[in-house]
Amino acid sequence: MRTLTGITPSGKLHLGNYFGAMRPAIEAQARGECFFFVADYHSMTAVFDPEERREKTLGVALDWLACGLDASKSVFWRQSDVAAVCELTWIIGSLTPMGLLERSHSYKDKIAKGLSPNFGLFAYPVLMAADILLFDTDVVPVGQDQKQHLEITRDIAIKFNQTYGETFVVPEPAIREDVAVVPGLDGQKMSKSYGNTIDLFGDEKAIRKKVMSIVMDSRTPQEPKPDAERNLAIQLLKLVAPAAVAADFENRLRAGGLGYGDLKKALFEHYWDYFAAARARRTELAADLGGVERILQEGAERARAVAAGVLERARRASGLR
Ligand code: TRP
Repeated sequence: MRTLTGITPSGKLHLGNYFGAMRPAIEAQARGECFFFVADYHSMTAVFDPEERREKTLGVALDWLACGLDASKSVFWRQSDVAAVCELTWIIGSLTPMGLLERSHSYKDKIAKGLSPNFGLFAYPVLMAADILLFDTDVVPVGQDQKQHLEITRDIAIKFNQTYGETFVVPEPAIREDVAVVPGLDGQKMSKSYGNTIDLFGDEKAIRKKVMSIVMDSRTPQEPKPDAERNLAIQLLKLVAPAAVAADFENRLRAGGLGYGDLKKALFEHYWDYFAAARARRTELAADLGGVERILQEGAERARAVAAGVLERARRASGLR
């Protein structure tokens, strides 16, 4: 069973990204074959600064490698190093009804947010379908926001197979339902667009300050808090501290006597420890960017080998050969 995940090079990762998407993807490596790529072609619809693109692409590669992406086990590459995906985009795009793309929520959302409607933005789901179909992907783990893109991918694969004969594996979505919803500093879902994030890698002081700014209420430390499980710091502590430690803090908060400042300090310390190994690994990787580039190149070679076979199948089926 082959699982594939595309990683948007979107800048600084936060705890929501980590527990919502990264950790489940990294854990999937223990269960089967995983393909991971940094989606730099996709970034072209929204980022127009070449240096920024390079930096973010490499940065997110460092983040994933530091957090446990094992490039000797999984295939990990930079999307644009396997240009066959562009050819497949054309081949399947020619079978993609306009209506399907016009109904895309993400396209409509991006336009509503003020992005100027370009061809790339409109064709984004076709490129994403090509990403998936080019590697005979069985399963794509997706959050709610990507569900429709996967439905579009399945529609395209089925239509191609009906038109030209069985060619593509029709992928299944694996909707992440059991993963933690990570609350942000203000209690809304942690998200870059809400400005309520805690970064994965960043300056100690700045992060400590953010943790100390998590929204609490005005009850005194002595008051018992029967709703302790709803406290934001407790919810976050459950993610980064051993279960027994988090339970102890929750009980003390419930009973009364634990101040919010002490709770937040404990949260910061556990957060900092939880990512200590990843932080050290990231520093090592960043000191050897040539090594990271080699990892990506080796991955690209393996990815190109798989892609070549599938693309040839699609060319033959459609009469290009
Ligand atoms: N569109 C995805 C996102 O915004 C990233 C992505 C690109 C992707 N191609 C993919 C995800 C293929 C899964 C499979 O997060």
